Amino acid sequence: MASLQIRRYWIYSATRWEMTGTRFGCGLEQCGACMVLVDGQPVQSCNAALDSVAGKQVTTIEGLAGSDGTLHPLQQAFLEEQAGQCGYCLSGILISAKALLDRNPNPTRSEIAAALDDNLCRCGSHVRILKAVERAAAIMRAEG
Ligand code: FES
Ligand code: FES
Repeated sequence: MASLQIRRYWIYSATRWEMTGTRFGCGLEQCGACMVLVDGQPVQSCNAALDSVAGKQVTTIEGLAGSDGTLHPLQQAFLEEQAGQCGYCLSGILISAKALLDRNPNPTRSEIAAALDDNLCRCGSHVRILKAVERAAAIMRAEG
């Protein structure tokens, strides 16, 4: 049998686990709305094989906030910078930004832009998004 597509995983996670934060955009690995972390690496989940994540840790946007509801510094910074407009791109962008800050706590603006290269924002909120990631990095460094 051919591998199941993670599009089914996406539907499965949204319906079975009611985890609806991961967005489905293009379905063609071109917009990044569906980004999740697989073992800490950002992966566009719309079109990857379901069995490719077997045994791996998958983190969706639902996994960013603390169990007590405390916002992740990225979420806090995006709110403070009013980085979103329609918000459709944001769960994917937050996931890519988390992967970046986990490996590089003090990225330059060009490093942030490069890390978000696979994420489209159709609303053109790019400048506020870059500022929000910089703010989150500063918060995280201050928190140690
Ligand atoms: S929905 Fe997966 S990249 Fe667009
Ligand atoms: S805020 Fe609308 S697509 Fe990014």
